[in-house]
Parts: sequence; structure tokens; C-alpha cells
Amino acid sequence: MGEPIVSLKKVNKFFGSNHVIKDMDLDINEGEFLTLLGPSGCGKTTILRMIAGFEDATNGVIEVQGERVEEKEAYERDVNTVFQSYALFPHMTVYDNIAYGLTVKKVPKDQIRERVKEMLELVQLMGFEGRKPDMMSGGQKQRVAIARALINNPKVLLLDEPLGALDLQLRKQMQIELKRLQKLLNITFVYVTHDQEEAMTMSDRIAVMNAGVIEHLASPSEIYNQPKTRFVANFIGESNIFTGEVKKMEDHIAEIKVEQGNVKMELSGFEQGEQIHVCVRPEVMKYSKTPIDGFSLEGTVKNVIFVGAQYRTLVTMDNGYDVKINRVKHDNDLKEGDRIYLYWDLEDATGIKAQEVEA
Ligand SMILES: Nc1ncnc2c1ncn2[C@@H]1O[C@H](COP(=O)(O)OP(=O)(O)OP(=O)(O)O)[C@@H](O)[C@H]1O
Ligand SMILES: [Mg+2]
Repeated sequence: MGEPIVSLKKVNKFFGSNHVIKDMDLDINEGEFLTLLGPSGCGKTTILRMIAGFEDATNGVIEVQGERVEEKEAYERDVNTVFQSYALFPHMTVYDNIAYGLTVKKVPKDQIRERVKEMLELVQLMGFEGRKPDMMSGGQKQRVAIARALINNPKVLLLDEPLGALDLQLRKQMQIELKRLQKLLNITFVYVTHDQEEAMTMSDRIAVMNAGVIEHLASPSEIYNQPKTRFVANFIGESNIFTGEVKKMEDHIAEIKVEQGNVKMELSGFEQGEQIHVCVRPEVMKYSKTPIDGFSLEGTVKNVIFVGAQYRTLVTMDNGYDVKINRVKHDNDLKEGDRIYLYWDLEDATGIKAQEVEA
């Protein structure tokens, strides 16, 4: 891997006394699809705006291609942005909207014509060049916005919830479309969404943000399978979280006392006596009608709900905590009122340090 194409070093941003981005370090690789994922207000748009040079960091350094963003004029930057609201010029045709970036650079007309044609093919809008934006659907308008950004040949494309205004079906189709364009053109995408499924399907890496801090930066599967913090475990997919203390460690097998009983798991990086959150996904939670060696998690089935592809079961533990179990359709033999014992395969639980940043 060469030098990062975008780099944030100890970046802070304050709006008045509101500390919105906190000591953030982030390196984005060339050609990467990196997603900033997090709840509303956690600072995603602020980061994009700072990378684009629309907003200054309060302190810290932001570099694009090794140069500090504030040292370049807007038109010199190899960065373009696509927003959720398409921000097209309503009085201009699709052709003029897409051509805009080259027109202001005074590129010769025949070259512009050639490039616009390429862009129309790329986003599959041939034949639409004479239309005005208000005569097009949301998905079509967003394609125009993307073409308008791509015509400048950016090295980095910043996309702020570009599919946020689209309905689910169109959104899924555009996800595939965008991913195709990104691979084809080998452009670095910095993509913002608060839709975790969208982030999981599209990204090479995801930065999960919480209140101005990146809590976990890793591939989608690592974020799902080994969430670093309790916040990440809860924000990405569903989780059962048992909090307790490591009682014994032997050959990477830990015996842990949690509020609901005793459990076991494969574990490293923890010591005896340490506080821990044990995270177990609903689809790997197992149950038995008879006690299981090494576990004492007993509860009563509260309800079983059929949701199409799976059964979702809630089990109320004797201390009142509800555990989720998800099973594919043919695999369910539970009913309300059953007494069951919960357990899991030792490698299926993830240990999270209890003192890390909490949601
Ligand atoms: N221009 C501004 N002036 C003052 N405060 C701002 C400004 N822009 C953003 N903020 C504040 O900074 C914080 C982060 O905002 P930001 O827009 O980056 O969040 P976000 O993660 O993009 O949220 P959303 O998912 O809702 O778009 C919020 O508390 C917001 O109110
Ligand atoms: Mg935003």
C-alpha cells in the first residue's frame, strides 16, 4: 500500500463550544471505498466538508495527495462532492449540468461534447441530455449529479448520503451501480451513510463513528464479527450483550461470571478479574432444554415471531434481561413459556473491554 490519498491527523473541529470532531486520525487508501457510518449528528458531514475544503478544521492536519487542503484553491483540488439533495442547476438541461465543470474550465466545446457523451453512457442516461432536472425521477437526478462530479476526473469522490432520498428498491439498484462505477474508474470513494446495510454491502472499510470519534475502522466482516466497542456491537446488526468479570483463563478459554449466570468463551487479550462485555449475535445463540456444562443461563421464552425468512425469539432471563435468538424457518422448535438453557460455541462470542467508550 502506498501513501494514503486522504489523511487526517489529530483533527479537531469545534462549532462554538460544541466539540464535533475529536482528535481524529484517519488514513484513506487510493482506490478504496471507505464509508463513514454513524448516527445523526456524529460528525460525518463535517468530516466530508473538511476534506472538501468547505470547512476548516479547528486544529490538526488534513492532506489530500500529500498536500494540505487549505493550501489549495477549490478549483485545484482533485476532490468532488455528491450530496443527498442533488444540487443540480434547475434551469439547465442535463447536458449543461454535466458539462458544467468543464465549461467553467473553458475546455473546448467538442471535447466537452465527447466527455458528456462518455458520462451519459457511464451513468446510463443516454437520450436524456435535453431534459431539465424537474422532469426526472430521483434516481435519474442522482445519476446526473454523479456524472457531473465524475466529468472532472476526481481522484477522490465524497458522497454524502447520495441515495438517502431514494426508495428502497431504487436505492439497492443504485448501490450496485455506484460500486460498479467506483471499481471501473478506480476512484477513491469516501461515502457517508447512516444505513448499516448499505455500508456493509458497498465498503472496503467502514469507520463506525460515535459522537465525533471513530470507534472502529475495519472491513465489514471484521466490524460485524469482532466489534471493538459495545456501541459498535449494538449499532451494526443485533447483539446480545452480557456484562461481567473474567473469573478464570486457561488456554484461551475464559470462564466469565455475568449478571445472568456463568458462561464460557474463547478469549485473548483479557486477564483474570477484568470487566468484560460478552457479545453474542442472535443467529449464533444456541439453546437446550437441559443444562449445558460450563453455562448457567436460564430463561423463559417470551415470544416467537415469524418475520419471513426467519423466526425471532425473545427469551427473558431470570434477571429480566431479554436475549434474542434468530433462526431460519425450518430450524425453530421453541414456543412461548418454554424453559431453556442458553449457550454458544466458544468461538462465537466476542469479548469487548468494559471500560472502552460507551454509547
Ligand atoms: N455549520 C454549523 N454550525 C454549527 N454547528 C454545526 C454546523 N454544522 C454541523 N454542526 C453540528 O455538528 C455536529 C455534527 O454535524 P454533522 O452534520 O457533521 O453530523 P452528521 O453525522 O452528518 O449527521 P446526519 O446523519 O444527521 O447528517 C452536530 O451537532 C451539528 O449540529
Ligand atoms: Mg450529515
